Amino acid sequence: MKSNPTRLLLLVALTAIGLLNPCQTFAQESMEKLWGDRVVKLRADNAERGQLFDEGNYAMFIHWGLYSMLGNEVDGKTYYGIGEWIMNSNMANIPVEEYKKLAGKFNPVNFDAKKIASIAKDAGMKYIIITAKHHDGFAMYDSDACDFNIVDATPWGKDPMKELAEACREAGLGFGFYYSHSKDWTFPGGGSGPRRDAEGNPATFDDYFKKKCLPQVNEITTQYGPIELVWFDTPGRIPKEYVEQLVELVHKNQPHALVSGRAGHGLGDYQTLGDMEVPRRNIDGMWESVDTTNDSWAYAWYDENWKSPREILGRLLACVGRGGTYMLNIGPKGDGAVPARAETTLKKAGQWIGRYPQVVYGTDGSPWQHKFPWGDVTRKGNTLFLCVFDWPNNGKLYLPNLKTEIASARLLEHKESTALTWTKEGDTVVIDVPPGQPEPLVSVIQLELKSEPNVDPVWAMDPELPTIISAEFATVDELKQSQKRWMEKFGEWKSIVQVHGFDKGGKASWDVEVLEPGDYAVALNYSGNGRLVWSVEVEGGQKIQNQQNSSAIYHTSPIGWLSFPKAGRYKVSVECLEGDVASASLKSIQFERM
Ligand code: GLC
Repeated sequence: MKSNPTRLLLLVALTAIGLLNPCQTFAQESMEKLWGDRVVKLRADNAERGQLFDEGNYAMFIHWGLYSMLGNEVDGKTYYGIGEWIMNSNMANIPVEEYKKLAGKFNPVNFDAKKIASIAKDAGMKYIIITAKHHDGFAMYDSDACDFNIVDATPWGKDPMKELAEACREAGLGFGFYYSHSKDWTFPGGGSGPRRDAEGNPATFDDYFKKKCLPQVNEITTQYGPIELVWFDTPGRIPKEYVEQLVELVHKNQPHALVSGRAGHGLGDYQTLGDMEVPRRNIDGMWESVDTTNDSWAYAWYDENWKSPREILGRLLACVGRGGTYMLNIGPKGDGAVPARAETTLKKAGQWIGRYPQVVYGTDGSPWQHKFPWGDVTRKGNTLFLCVFDWPNNGKLYLPNLKTEIASARLLEHKESTALTWTKEGDTVVIDVPPGQPEPLVSVIQLELKSEPNVDPVWAMDPELPTIISAEFATVDELKQSQKRWMEKFGEWKSIVQVHGFDKGGKASWDVEVLEPGDYAVALNYSGNGRLVWSVEVEGGQKIQNQQNSSAIYHTSPIGWLSFPKAGRYKVSVECLEGDVASASLKSIQFERM
């Protein structure tokens, strides 16, 4: 699908300044632009840089600033969304001068750098990236370039970054900074900031860049010892020459540090995906997902929607299993304390990682390039780690389309392991597993292969568990297939790949491997308007058709049973035949053996 460059530029610009409708749909290409150009480099290119990133696979992100003090409540009113945007017009719309006054009250007496480092360490994370300066322009370190900083402008008057950098070094963790290079809402000339200086003279982006941005990036890359990474964000419309200067400066001052993909213009060292985005298929090159323990990046008083340890592991292993790195955020309170529930959920996930470190660190993506109904796979050479979230009740774990011979299969239980038996018929492996999930969170089976894994990444219908296949894996004929992103609350991003455009006719098809013949209940997950008639057809076989209701919210509706008389490869196609077909947006197809 081609996208119109002018429209694309407009989308990028509007989103950057926060004007877009939260329910806006983007084509896949435009999303890649939104966060800075796609940077796909081979791992070898950055072998010297970013070793912790590449091998560690798991990091802590911290959003902490003046906004943390408000916790999303201003003058008794709660604003729902990402807390660090509180001064923006989409949130509480706080005038610059008023916002700056908050510094006079900022006194984070409960900030404890050692505690934060130990939370990250216990969580199994390998480095910490913290906000040196967010879009609000307030420097959370001692800056000579601008006195709107934590040392000069607050009663607390200390530099927490010195303490945190030191605590990370002591704990054996890497350290690095988030820096909002393009947006600065309080410094004259900064992106979306005041257009005039204190004397009323016009201020340009160049003024901001020379007086504040470049000097501050110099400060953070020279005053805190060796750092892992500078995490630039939301490049918006920043001209290329500015990004070039920043990247050059970081690489000069910190030859081992990476620059995030959101620096812009494709100049970062790796690719950063969209906020809170966990990909469904493997991505080449160095990349990361950024996510948060609840729904907001910065502390929000109401936000108790924590990810459970199991969800954290699910998202971490999905990122590592897709070949990337997972950076998970916490938002300390205005007084510096980390919310207790963030700490406990991270710790429980970390205890699991402590039992199975070999599954997470130094591993690469799954050869199948997508998850399985029962869980996910990470790989180190000829060793595969099957991470089983949903333990099969019938004592059989199905591993489809594996052409390589297996040397051994073992169930890992902390330091113990038990040999498992398996059968292999054609390319289908069935591992005999004991009844009952051995590990309360995620059980691990280690497979040693006799040679490099050789698999067919086609999806297979699990005979035991419902198999949900995203529209991302469909091939489309006369239909559109694109990424759709929306904000659940302000700044809380969700994303799917949808198939739509059914008014032109057209069908979406999936190749699927049937491991056990029989009847399968088929369901579709979609959104739309009113009753829709869907058909699902097996090429050269049965066709079923049914009418079901729809709404703006994606949900799963059963269509009917389809029979697959023999094991093997089938093509299944979906069409939307009647109703407001133009409104139909298909998210996934599901098969469950009856
Ligand atoms: C977005 C937001 C920002 C947040 C960041 C985290 O770019 O503007 O507030 O820091 O994502 O990934």
